[in-house]
Amino acid sequence: MHGRRDRRSGAPGPSLDSFFVSEPTPISEPAVQAAVDAALAAIATAGTTAELKAARSVHAAEGSQLARFNAQLRNVPADRKAALGKLVGQARARVNQAIAAREAELSEAEERERLRRETVDVTEVPSRWRPGARHPLSTLMERMGDVFVAMGWEIAEGPELENEWFNFDAMNFDADHPARAMQDTLFVDPVDSHLLLRTHTSPVQIRSLLERPLPVYVVAPGRVYRSDELDATHTPVFHQIEGLAVDRGLTMAHLRGTLEHLARAMFGAEAQIRLRPNYFPFTEPSAEMDVWQPHAKGGARWVEWGGCGMVNPNVLRAGGIDPDEYQGFAFGMGIERTLQFRNDMNDMRDMVEGDVRFSQQFGMVV
Ligand code: FA5
Ligand code: MG
Repeated sequence: MHGRRDRRSGAPGPSLDSFFVSEPTPISEPAVQAAVDAALAAIATAGTTAELKAARSVHAAEGSQLARFNAQLRNVPADRKAALGKLVGQARARVNQAIAAREAELSEAEERERLRRETVDVTEVPSRWRPGARHPLSTLMERMGDVFVAMGWEIAEGPELENEWFNFDAMNFDADHPARAMQDTLFVDPVDSHLLLRTHTSPVQIRSLLERPLPVYVVAPGRVYRSDELDATHTPVFHQIEGLAVDRGLTMAHLRGTLEHLARAMFGAEAQIRLRPNYFPFTEPSAEMDVWQPHAKGGARWVEWGGCGMVNPNVLRAGGIDPDEYQGFAFGMGIERTLQFRNDMNDMRDMVEGDVRFSQQFGMVV
């Protein structure tokens, strides 16, 4: 400090500028070295180009110690000018080189980092949205339909939410037939809407007769509902494929031949079926159809596959057809049972539990 007086006394003092300007450090080798060391340390620790810029303005730019030494060269005696000029010049060159080198390093690193951030790995396996696959029951149902399409039959459809009249009355069920009772049929509220979840695909018979010109050869695959308990051979929601042929001169022989053809298509050339007399209101005569299971667990045996028969004249009449002129045969098989028999599966529950491993056994890719 120099010439400092108490400014509060009001006495004249040095200007504010000169108040902040300290006596310049004389140029000397240790002083220059110290400035260089400080500069190099700051340059080395700069971790970003922005920090390096700050280090440059403190240690190399105008106002830095080295710049001040450079300015002082004007005032050094002539005999020392060359030596001190060289000292300061080399010092400044070293610092500038260090800045340039660090600058190159940092901008290269920053560029590398930017590229890394922006890189898209085109080989990366993305978390995949599984598209899913069709259930073996759906594909089997389609396959069974195809057996008939190949013979010139048509695929017919009906609603799962059905009118009681189509499901029962038109199919010749008495008003007090036990199948209408609550334990089998899922009626839909309110009861006087006379809507229900269809208990079989047979209502598609009457719908087809009302909609189509004769002769009629249709199959109707689809979902049906019953208040059955879930067990190894029953589920409350299952699938059937209905068949109906109405033409002139149809007999039980046509029915049997058709069923044998389907059985062979499903279970192989050796497949055998058996018809057992039975009762359905909508066929007369009626039969239950069994299929021979040579590999069944517990030994070969006959197992029920579906129901069938000659279309009851009352059903033909409900469909507006003269039973003296036309005859028909009809059948209805369970799709779950078909899948079960085709694949020697013991438990139907595996089909409906929705475990993808079940489908994967059938070659489904999910
Ligand atoms: C009927 O449903 C008649 N509509 C079949 C019919 C059609 C007869 C045309 C005559 C003419 P049934 O209730 O027996 O019949 O069922 C037919 C088949 O559906 C059964 O043989 C069985 O394979 C399958 N099935 C019945 N109930 C279930 C159930 N709860 N779970 C899985 N499959 C079932
Ligand atoms: Mg039955």
